Amino acid sequence: MTTDSTGLKTAVAEVAARVENAMRKDLAGRLAGSDPLLREVVEYSLFSGGKRIRPFLCVLSARCCGRDDADLYTLAAALEYLHTATLMHDDVVDHAPLRRGRETAVQRYSLEDAILAGDWLHARSLYLVGKFTGAEGLDVFCSATEGMVNGEFVQKRLCGDYRASEEDYFAVITQKTGNLIASSCALGALYAGADRARVQALQRYGEGVGIAFQIVDDLLDYTGRQALTGKETGNDFQEGKLTLPLIRALAAASPAEQEEMKKLIEGDRTRPEARAAIQAFIESLGGFQSAAQSAQHCVTEALGKLALFSADPAASPHVGLLQALTGYILVRKK
Ligand code: IPE
Ligand code: IPE
Ligand code: MG
Ligand code: MG
Repeated sequence: MTTDSTGLKTAVAEVAARVENAMRKDLAGRLAGSDPLLREVVEYSLFSGGKRIRPFLCVLSARCCGRDDADLYTLAAALEYLHTATLMHDDVVDHAPLRRGRETAVQRYSLEDAILAGDWLHARSLYLVGKFTGAEGLDVFCSATEGMVNGEFVQKRLCGDYRASEEDYFAVITQKTGNLIASSCALGALYAGADRARVQALQRYGEGVGIAFQIVDDLLDYTGRQALTGKETGNDFQEGKLTLPLIRALAAASPAEQEEMKKLIEGDRTRPEARAAIQAFIESLGGFQSAAQSAQHCVTEALGKLALFSADPAASPHVGLLQALTGYILVRKK
């Protein structure tokens, strides 16, 4: 069954509303009596217009495997908790001023508040994943989180290094983004009591989707509109992250062009002229186009993993939504 973009939008909104209800209920119980500032920072960070992609994937994966009940939305909320915690910490690491169209938690409150409230969300997410998916789910979830931290370390080590390779890039994004999106799918399947083959198929679908998602995020960091992404554009180059468009452009450049680009990468990256010059190089050397093709390729691979469900008519509408989501990921502007 194919699903159009209106069907996808409706389904994402429906799941997001149920997950938000689950979050509000969980927070009301768990944060009652806690310090009011902790509650404020947690709520500021959670309820600010996130796309809720990870909970959506968790819920749809469980539905593909035949289970849908009230607790599923609390499990899905745990994925948004961890995601939000990682964004709060990521904005500290990346010195980012804007998130979801408003000040980041670190900017609005303080470094301490952003780190501590992120820790609270991380702890709560672990509890919920353990409660609903047991040791097996915790293994998936914690491995993803450990990998994410390692990915951030590798990214930091390669910061400002024009020799960073395509392999480095894919290793970083698989760990920092692919893992959590993959585990959102795997946890939904585990929650539904799916067999190993189904858990793995959904996990691999999620990994491909996650990698494509980050490639597109990295494209939007150059070519997106801040009014839509809600994040400051140009942050990656300024922070010295060599993302796929730039890596591909460097590979296509002549030795003289490479030398000029190297100077820009190693120089003062905060200058608007440096950013404009690197952007022009990427554009003329086909870096944006080439990165977009790779995102398309990852999505095609991911879609192939859903073939396992084609013999299951009950899964068909849910698989249709997972397929439609991949199309959205490639064209998203926010
Ligand atoms: C941002 O994720 C971080 C990345 C992995 C690129 P999202 O784009 O899903 O962020 P929100 O939750 O919708 O704001
Ligand atoms: C993804 O990378 C961040 C995490 C894994 C938390 P980015 O640093 O590109 O994400 P944004 O652009 O800040 O959302
Ligand atoms: Mg960031
Ligand atoms: Mg980014």
